[in-house]
Amino acid sequence: MRKAVIAGNWKMYKTAKEAELFIDELSKHPLDEGVEVFIAPAFPAIHAAINKVSEKKLSVRIGAQNLSEHPEGAYTGEVAAIMLANLGVHFVIIGHSERRHLFHESNATIHKKLHRAVEQGLTPVLCVGETDQERKLGHTKAVLEKQITEALSGCSVDFLKNLIIAYEPVWAIGTGNAATPEMAEEVHGEIRLLLGKVLGSSFASGVRILYGGSVKPESIRELMKQGNIDGALIGGASLEPDSFQLMVNYQN
Ligand code: PGA
Repeated sequence: MRKAVIAGNWKMYKTAKEAELFIDELSKHPLDEGVEVFIAPAFPAIHAAINKVSEKKLSVRIGAQNLSEHPEGAYTGEVAAIMLANLGVHFVIIGHSERRHLFHESNATIHKKLHRAVEQGLTPVLCVGETDQERKLGHTKAVLEKQITEALSGCSVDFLKNLIIAYEPVWAIGTGNAATPEMAEEVHGEIRLLLGKVLGSSFASGVRILYGGSVKPESIRELMKQGNIDGALIGGASLEPDSFQLMVNYQN
């Protein structure tokens, strides 16, 4: 059984204070215990978020949105995996499309980041997804195959035991134009087949594959009904506690 993950990606929103207020508010609602709840604040709000979640005894895992590909060194402005692990960070988003496109992260860089994360015991949430143009040209499968095989190349099943994949079609992120549940399910199924080819079917059947891209309280239930969709990575709609808790409690 794959436990559902509902993850909020706060991007470059919310100060430490605002993160605390959000968690205070979230703690007023019961959260479905059958769902793993993830929140990724910006770096400066991580420490406050971890403390607040523990103060409120909320079962919410705090993560980061990025990390350095290097273990340590003279890399001004970068943050190492060991620094995140030391703060009590649980997971890290790797290869988000905004990192790939705005900050020119390659699959090779993403591969290194994944290594750094796993070495420090962080759960990697590897994001993949095609652009609108790639989809229109019929290249979706090839693009995903390249992103996944290059990111995971040479990694063993044991090394990747906590791997989570997030399928986020670039054309659906922040556009309000989500993939239909059927469209997402088809791609999730292909991703699982590909993981099976590379790492074996028993590994593939245990990997959680989240969908991301304009997920909203109104659309999450239909998405979660699909057999290969194990959760959601949510940007805009994760910024309000009410809307976030509705999505965590999608089964109610
Ligand atoms: P969105 O973002 O929900 O605002 O489309 C998703 C993401 O970027 O992870």
